[in-house]
Amino acid sequence: MDDLYYSDYIELDKILNSQHPKSFESPEEGNDEMLFIIIHQVYELWFKQIIFELDLAGQIFIQDGINDNSDDMSKVVHKLKRIGKILELINQQVSVLETMTALDFLEFRNFLLPASGFQSKQFRLIEAKLGLKMEQRYKTEYYKHTRRGSLSETDLNEVNKAESESTLKELIIKWLERMPYLDAAYWKEYKQVTESDSGDRHKFWLDYRNAYQTSLSKNEADRLQEFDKVFFEEGRGDAPPAAMRAALFITIYRNLPIFHLPFELLNTLSEIDELLSNWRYRHFMMVRRMIGLRVGTGGTSGAGYLEGTLSQHYAFREITEVATFLIERSKRPVLPNALKEKVSFNL
Ligand code: HEM
Repeated sequence: MDDLYYSDYIELDKILNSQHPKSFESPEEGNDEMLFIIIHQVYELWFKQIIFELDLAGQIFIQDGINDNSDDMSKVVHKLKRIGKILELINQQVSVLETMTALDFLEFRNFLLPASGFQSKQFRLIEAKLGLKMEQRYKTEYYKHTRRGSLSETDLNEVNKAESESTLKELIIKWLERMPYLDAAYWKEYKQVTESDSGDRHKFWLDYRNAYQTSLSKNEADRLQEFDKVFFEEGRGDAPPAAMRAALFITIYRNLPIFHLPFELLNTLSEIDELLSNWRYRHFMMVRRMIGLRVGTGGTSGAGYLEGTLSQHYAFREITEVATFLIERSKRPVLPNALKEKVSFNL
C-alpha cells in the first residue's frame, strides 16, 4: 500500500484550485478579488467546523438524563468553548480584509452581483442551530427565496429544517427546567426569613425576591414586577419561568461544586452570543467603510440592515439578562444543609 501523502490526505488540490476571481482577465491580475474570495472560503471552513461542534454538543444534550457532573457535560462545555475560540479568530480576520480599501473593492464589486454573504447557508445554519428563529430575525422579508440576492429555495429549506429540529437553545431550556434543586426533600429544614405570604411559591424564592427588592434603588423599583413576570408568570423570551429560575439559581450559587459546569455552560452561551455580535459589529463597520450607504450586492439596504441584525440577532438573550436579577453574594439566602450535601462532591 502506498504511503498517504499530505496533499492527498487534506485534498489540497481541490482547495487550492477553487479560487477563480471573476474580474481577472489574466491569472496574474493584481486586484484584491483573490483576497476577497480566499477570506470568504476561510470563513466558510470555520463555519463548517462550528456546525460540526454544535451538532455534537446537541447530540449529547438531547439525552434526557444528562448528568451535570458527568463527562457529557464537560464535553459539551469543551465543544462550546472551542466554538468561542473559533469566533475569536474569525473576528480578528476582519482586519485582514480591511487592508482592502473602498476603491479596491469597486474594482471587482459589480462582478459578484447579486451574490452576497447574505446567502451563506452555513452562517444561517449556525444561527438556526443555536436557536435564532425566522420570526426573530430582522427584516424577514429579505429571506423570501424568490427575492433576488436571497438564499436559494433548497438552502432556505435546509435552514428551516435546522430551525424546526431541537436547537441548542431548546435543549438548554429543557435541561434547565428539569433541575431538581427545589425538590421538597432538600428543603425541609429551611427557615423562611421573610414574612411574605407563601402562596404557591417556594419559600426560597420568597426570600430571594425580598432580598432583590431591598437591593433595588428607588428608580429601579419597577424591576420587582419584572422579576415576578420573568420568574413566576410568563418567563422571558423563549424560556418559561422554571427555566429562568434554574438559570438564576445556578448563577447565584455557582460556587457549589455541582454548579461549576452548568455555570460554565451558561456563561459560554452568553460568550458565544457576544462574540457573534462582535463579528456582526466588525463586519458592519467594515461594510460602512467599503460601501458607505450603498445597497449591498445581495440587495438589502446594506449597512443599515446589518446594524438592525446587530441589535436583534441574539440566541441567548434570556440567559445573559439573568444578570438583571442578581443580588450581592452576602445577601443570598443560606441553603439548607441537605441541599448543600447533595450538591457537593462527597469523598
Ligand atoms: C468587502 C467586504 C464585505 C462587504 C462590503 C460586505 C457586505 C455585506 C452586505 C452589504 C451585507 C448585507 C446583505 C447584502 O445586501 O449584500 C452582507 C451580509 C453578510 N456578509 Fe458580508 N461583506 C463583506 C465581507 C464579508 C466576509 C469576509 C464575510 C465572511 C463570511 C461576510 C459574510 C456575510 C454574512 C454572513 C452576511 C449576512 C449577515 C446577516 O444577515 O446577519 N461578508 N455583507
